[in-house]
Amino acid sequence: MDSIPANRRYWNQISSAYQHEHDPQIGAAPRLWGMSSVPDAHLQALGDVSGKRVLELGCGAGQWSRSLAAEGAIVVGLDLSEAQLTAAAREMGAARYPLVQGAAEQLPFASGSFDLVFCDHGGLSWAPPHLAVPQAARVLRSGGRLVFNVASPWFEACYDNESRRVTTTLHRDYFGLNTIVEEHGAASYQLTYGDWIKTLRGAGLIIDDLIEPRPEPGTPNGYNETDPPDWAYRWPAEMLWVTHKP
Ligand SMILES: C[S@@+](CC[C@H](N)C(=O)[O-])C[C@H]1O[C@@H](n2cnc3c(N)ncnc32)[C@H](O)[C@@H]1O
Repeated sequence: MDSIPANRRYWNQISSAYQHEHDPQIGAAPRLWGMSSVPDAHLQALGDVSGKRVLELGCGAGQWSRSLAAEGAIVVGLDLSEAQLTAAAREMGAARYPLVQGAAEQLPFASGSFDLVFCDHGGLSWAPPHLAVPQAARVLRSGGRLVFNVASPWFEACYDNESRRVTTTLHRDYFGLNTIVEEHGAASYQLTYGDWIKTLRGAGLIIDDLIEPRPEPGTPNGYNETDPPDWAYRWPAEMLWVTHKP
């Protein structure tokens, strides 16, 4: 399925409201992962980026990119949506970095261009992984790392479309997740744990870690209502893959 046009339209349409609602959380401090803003300082997923060529795949308003640029990384922010890129340009701050409009499915970069490719609910959530993972692997140099955070299959399977919240009931088949229908014809993607492993290994990547970010009890989920409120403390809502290209 080609979801590029619909996802581009969708993110252009919601960008302004999305940034109004979520930018204060995402940009509250450098290096915060995911729906509950778990600090990278606790997870140690990304490592030192100073002097490294870094690609953020689906950078949105660039909250991550601008932090890493300020740390001395040579960052490129890629996103499908011109509205999101406009927000990133506006919020860029003192450490300037280039923004590129493009799709994770068809990266407009030469092979071996980056030391680190990463995203937080970015291109690896919104592009089919069987296309986006090989592209990310291609643009990494040998020894380079692909690190990305996505929703977990637990979270997707327990998401109730009707009440629009995550519950303790299974609402969808684990084996049938694949393409998740979002609003306005947009699509996001999810794989089973086994299929993630096959897709990453199939692209020639070595899996170094699968971190399950666990918020402190009482930490709000800034994106989704959950029932119980401490759902993400009790079950893994996200998965943070840490891989490298041999
Ligand atoms: C949830 S945001 C992630 C950015 C930031 N980390 C955040 O949490 O806001 C998802 C981003 O992925 C972008 N996106 C959607 N489909 C994409 C694709 N196929 N390739 C690259 N970026 C895409 C959207 O435009 C959006 O900016």
